[in-house]
Amino acid sequence: MLIVAFTGSLREKSLNKGILREVREMLPEGVEFEVLAPEELPYYNMDLEANEPEAVSAFKARIRQADGALIVTPEFNGGMPGVLKNALDWVSRPRETSPLRGKPTIITGAGAGGGTASAQAQLRLALGRFGVNVLEQPVVHIVKAWEKFDADGNLQDEETRANLRALVLALIKAVEEQSAIATA
Ligand SMILES: Cc1cc2nc3c(=O)[nH]c(=O)nc-3n(C[C@H](O)[C@H](O)[C@H](O)COP(=O)(O)O)c2cc1C
Repeated sequence: MLIVAFTGSLREKSLNKGILREVREMLPEGVEFEVLAPEELPYYNMDLEANEPEAVSAFKARIRQADGALIVTPEFNGGMPGVLKNALDWVSRPRETSPLRGKPTIITGAGAGGGTASAQAQLRLALGRFGVNVLEQPVVHIVKAWEKFDADGNLQDEETRANLRALVLALIKAVEEQSAIATA
């Protein structure tokens, strides 16, 4: 099983990158995990679609090969960062054959008071527009995140770790159920 993941934070000691490291550690044996780099994509431009940039094709190809996806968003001014939205705009095209369409996907994020609730709501809305199978439950908003990660962006909080584990297990279950239906 392959799970691909990406985040909208680019900074080195990002708490949201810390979530990705944490998830990599908790995955059961046999589950491959690959973090993609949305910052390598050019700005979305419909004119480029006829001759799709290589970085975009590679990003989409890896998602297409994956069984499930994890998207981790920080919250910038009440929404997801531009780099993440840009990646989703590329991935959403063409809508009917988007590599994320119908793919089991989980979202989460670490932030201040609201724990990225607004950013996650925006992310969920965007993913819904092109038919991504975003799991409704469990919802994991990591609030007051600066108290739960150390200065290097490594998670230090057991309750958050347990919540992330539940989220990841829900994804694995959804992937297994989907593949059971596909092979039935
Ligand atoms: C431009 C900008 C806007 C922000 N807006 C919000 C916001 O609306 N809500 C919030 O909870 N945190 C906001 N923050 C704080 C970030 O969520 C916080 O810095 C977080 O740690 C960033 O994620 P990272 O650690 O993964 O880089 C903002 C930070 C920046 C740089």
